[in-house]
Amino acid sequence: MTKKHLTVVGLGGSLALHSNSLAALRIALEGAAEAGATTELLDIRQLSLPMYDPANDSPPDSVRRMCDAIHRADGLIWSSPMYNGTISGSFKNALDWLKLLDDRNPPYLTDKVVGLISTAGGVQGLQAVNTMEFVVRALRGWAVPLVMPIAQAWKAFDERGIPRVSQLTEQLHALGREVTRASFQFASEPPTKEDAARAEAGITPLSDREAKSA
Ligand SMILES: Cc1cc2nc3c(=O)[nH]c(=O)nc-3n(C[C@H](O)[C@H](O)[C@H](O)COP(=O)(O)O)c2cc1C
Repeated sequence: MTKKHLTVVGLGGSLALHSNSLAALRIALEGAAEAGATTELLDIRQLSLPMYDPANDSPPDSVRRMCDAIHRADGLIWSSPMYNGTISGSFKNALDWLKLLDDRNPPYLTDKVVGLISTAGGVQGLQAVNTMEFVVRALRGWAVPLVMPIAQAWKAFDERGIPRVSQLTEQLHALGREVTRASFQFASEPPTKEDAARAEAGITPLSDREAKSA
């Protein structure tokens, strides 16, 4: 059965007041909307998440809201700044909270499509994109092949977060459209069949509690 309404959720930005990674994410979500998706933006700064703590079993609303939005989404777009050669701590912390999706049905990011963006001061933004892709795979999602590592982001956007060259807007829109297009494919025929899900469940690592009592 083909799903008619798709939701694409963007997660990203930084704690900076004027965040280039957030600006890029907004533009990519425009592309997803152009392609027919309903979009939602989860801004890392606004979420103001506490540090992930495995002992915290009553996390604040912001954590629950983020996890619920991500669980409901068909597609995701992640956008992190590059910090010290990898993703930022605040972005990774948001991803760590997705541990709470372990008991959802299906768990984590099963059959969700993810588009990846990074903004860097230099030219090595692909390192942050690759780090995000490791996380997508760990959480059982599917990264789209088109990625957007934005080099020298300080000169790519103006102070209002508008790209200085229209080609960047077009590329970010293309990523948003691609996430939506792939999400349609996955929604009409999810690639994770029951046998694959069973195999995956069989190799799930022990939880901390199980490991201690083993
Ligand atoms: C703590 C810190 C570490 C950074 N490390 C790198 C880095 O390793 N390589 C790089 O190219 N840019 C680095 N930058 C620059 C940021 O990636 C760049 O300014 C990015 O656009 C910031 O995104 P934001 O505006 O969303 O915060 C760093 C910036 C900060 C604040």
